Amino acid sequence: MSKNINYRTKLNSETLPKHIAIIMDGNGRWAKKRLLPRTAGHRAGMKSLRKVVETCTELKIQVLTVYAFSTENWKRPEGEVSYLMELLVEYLNKEIKELHDNNVKIQIIGDIQVLNNSCKQEINRAILMTENNTGLIFNIALNYGSRTEIIYAIKQVAEQIQANLITIDDINEQMLSNTLYTSNIPDPDLLIRTAGEMRLSNFLLWQIAYSELWITEKLWPDFGEKDLIKAIVDYQKRDRRFGGIK
Ligand code: IPE
Ligand code: IPE
Ligand code: MG
Repeated sequence: MSKNINYRTKLNSETLPKHIAIIMDGNGRWAKKRLLPRTAGHRAGMKSLRKVVETCTELKIQVLTVYAFSTENWKRPEGEVSYLMELLVEYLNKEIKELHDNNVKIQIIGDIQVLNNSCKQEINRAILMTENNTGLIFNIALNYGSRTEIIYAIKQVAEQIQANLITIDDINEQMLSNTLYTSNIPDPDLLIRTAGEMRLSNFLLWQIAYSELWITEKLWPDFGEKDLIKAIVDYQKRDRRFGGIK
């Protein structure tokens, strides 16, 4: 950590992003380069996650959302899917105490009902244990897909109309935002994607309408504190106009 402290002095503590979202991509390519199985890449990626959560906690970032498993990732071989789920359980199991001690609040976005029982149990334990914490909101996107999320929100709105609880005129941006999984958190200010792909892969499509995008060629297992700080420093140089003019 100490060798990166200098790097941190480049940060302006007044204009830190409130919410950082990360598409953690490139584990498979990292493993392939080393002639290792893809699973080894996922395991190495877990270390990057640990470091990034730690740095966000230290910097007092309000929300970190990470894309851990997409609704499209079920297309992968069964062995890889189950490894990813087991890895998450292992991660939570190992890290939960430290996360809790650091006042981190764990949240999940995505449909976890379909996951196996041990996975659900570990997740629920982590959520319950940390629910009253007031530090970093660590939001894990698991079996998450933005389109599924939006459809789910629309269905909820339709049900409320059908039950005469609201009318069509009550539908607006704020109410739809409040109906998404992310209802309790601000939209991401900064979206980071590792491993160089220039796409969103069904991640937070509604919420990132005005996020600043930052894409690096670095593969997720090679991503560390220095890269995160670089992304934030670059973000702080951006001119966020939100459609207006200076
Ligand atoms: C990201 O790494 C992890 C998940 C999508 C779960 P990948 O497994 O997609 O790695 P690449 O893109 O094949 O290198
Ligand atoms: C996005 O990565 C999903 C996660 C990081 C969990 P993918 O590797 O699944 O995305 P594509 O297939 O390259 O779009
Ligand atoms: Mg990928």
